[in-house]
Amino acid sequence: MDIALDPLEGTTLTAKDMPNALTVIAMAPRGTLLHAPDVYMEKLAVGPGLPKDVVSLEMSPTERVVELAKAKHCKPTDITVCILERPRHESMIEEVRATGAAIRLITDGDVAGVIHCAESEITGIDMYMGSGGAPEGVLAASALKCMGGQIWGKLLFRNDDERGRAAKAGITDLNRIYTRDEMVRSEVIFAATGVTNGSIVRGVRREPKFIETETILMRSKTGSVRRVIYRNPIR
Ligand code: FBP
Repeated sequence: MDIALDPLEGTTLTAKDMPNALTVIAMAPRGTLLHAPDVYMEKLAVGPGLPKDVVSLEMSPTERVVELAKAKHCKPTDITVCILERPRHESMIEEVRATGAAIRLITDGDVAGVIHCAESEITGIDMYMGSGGAPEGVLAASALKCMGGQIWGKLLFRNDDERGRAAKAGITDLNRIYTRDEMVRSEVIFAATGVTNGSIVRGVRREPKFIETETILMRSKTGSVRRVIYRNPIR
């Protein structure tokens, strides 16, 4: 098997008890998950039911909003874009604001940010964009493969050390844009357990006599979604 995992996606979210810290894992047949080095990845994601390549990483943020609005038969002002709040995203945020689209800024947790695109009618988020951890990109792609939706990722290298990490991971084309199915090349199983309360799953609940967790478990092959409540007595 290939296993991609993040035992705590949202360390700061957990420390501050803010929403959507998750424990996430994806499993697929050996050799089918992108072995993402520990570098940043430029990400762009939309939910299911849209034309293939409706937006792209080559488009400007403005073009992405305009094209998505066209495909959704709505106005740019009806679109909500989720972005990680970081100084490196300031100009992107400004540009998206100028289109009239709404912005949902998150302080951390872009796996949840991308997942939110898959259920836009519940979350109100139509598109995710911006850079974050590359391993998180593969986890987000796995989730979208189960839920439907498109994601594109481009690895970003800031120095030779990071380029060296790519070489070690067997990556030779440093400018490649990966689609969802190039990051996850087969059927995949994805599970997320809530650490803090969030819109996808509840966080860990500590009671005097037990600890309870909620897990969402999804399988791309069948599209099945299981929710598991696990109660562990404290003896
Ligand atoms: P950690 O739990 O490892 O802190 O990751 C949280 C996170 O917000 C990820 O969701 C995101 O991909 C990454 O950090 C962004 O990195 P940075 O904080 O360096 O901008």
